[in-house]
Amino acid sequence: MTSHPALPPDVATLGDHERHARRVLDDATWAYLFGAAADELTFARNIDAWRALELLPRVLKPLAGGHTRIELLGRTLAHPILVAPMAHQRLAHPDGEHATALAAAALGAGLVFSTQASVPLDEIAARFLPEPGRGPLWFQLYLQPDRGFTAELVQRAEAAGFEALVLTVDAPVQGARDSERRSGFRLPAGIGAVNLTGLRQPPPRTLAAGQSALFDDLLTHAPAWDDVAWLRSITRLPVLIKGVLHPDDARQAVACGASGLIVSNHGGRTLDTAITTANALPRIAQAVQGDLPLLVDGGIRRGTDVLKAIGLGASAVLVGRPVLHGLATSGATGVAHVLRLLRDELEIAMALTGCRTLAEASTALAPPPR
Ligand SMILES: Cc1cc2nc3c(=O)[nH]c(=O)nc-3n(C[C@H](O)[C@H](O)[C@H](O)COP(=O)(O)O)c2cc1C
Repeated sequence: MTSHPALPPDVATLGDHERHARRVLDDATWAYLFGAAADELTFARNIDAWRALELLPRVLKPLAGGHTRIELLGRTLAHPILVAPMAHQRLAHPDGEHATALAAAALGAGLVFSTQASVPLDEIAARFLPEPGRGPLWFQLYLQPDRGFTAELVQRAEAAGFEALVLTVDAPVQGARDSERRSGFRLPAGIGAVNLTGLRQPPPRTLAAGQSALFDDLLTHAPAWDDVAWLRSITRLPVLIKGVLHPDDARQAVACGASGLIVSNHGGRTLDTAITTANALPRIAQAVQGDLPLLVDGGIRRGTDVLKAIGLGASAVLVGRPVLHGLATSGATGVAHVLRLLRDELEIAMALTGCRTLAEASTALAPPPR
């Protein structure tokens, strides 16, 4: 690990971390890490949708002994904030996923480690798991066309000590990330998906006239609901599904034996103008009726957003880009500060809405205006 640069003095919010990160990263790296699909409307609307929800303050309630603890997959967690899986974190800072893991463990935040991480999965498990007070450690999985390789990857994650699998299902094809293409971004030498070393992609098919490279080649390898059953059959770990927005898909995930759902639009990086997660979450909560835990990500930038998400039916939230802003600004120190700010803001929001525990979070939401 490199040394941990001190925080700049004027950083008081996640937005301040973003401003500093913009200064230290070049344009192409910025476009890859922080860009979104097409006109980036879903990306922006995710943030706006949480902001638009109003809270209803309560006064003079006894709040002593309150806390942010939650129960998730059989464990008690100090608070409901996890780090979202994000690829290639060494682009943001030389310490990459190591710094993120160190900070998340110190702050009791769960960590979801990406299939496309830029450091070996066993190094992160070895760093994270021994930390006292740590949150859960989950492995995010993209099913590869080579199912044999995928099974070995799952076994490696299991052997390293990862505690659940998060199967991401909303990116069978990459979104049209125009700002990234425009920037000419290329992964620099020395940064890559090291846990996929040795993976062979199927050779491209020869297409007949009129056939589509997407539908008649790439998507012939795409995962389907059957693959969830297959994945469950090869692992003893709980399987959560990430990237669900439709209530019918949520019900199907329950029927397939998923242990949890992450309501997510990939932070607006796949389908632009997709529904915001703040809007999708209550519909999904209603569809699954508590049959499995729901988590949500996309646009969470304030502790008030966390409280609103829990109030709408989530058990916990994942935070994406702000973690990378903190990482770029000040390595592990920056990530720790981002997570600390969110938790502190959550406590303040709970206190001012009269919630001693997160079980009361639904009472914090103001009714929609008539
Ligand atoms: C740079 C970057 C890389 C990402 N890589 C992955 C990934 O490898 N797997 C995955 O499931 N989601 C990935 N995501 C999506 C995040 O897990 C998460 O859904 C999203 O960032 C949440 O929105 P937010 O950034 O507004 O918090 C990535 C997001 C970013 C910004």
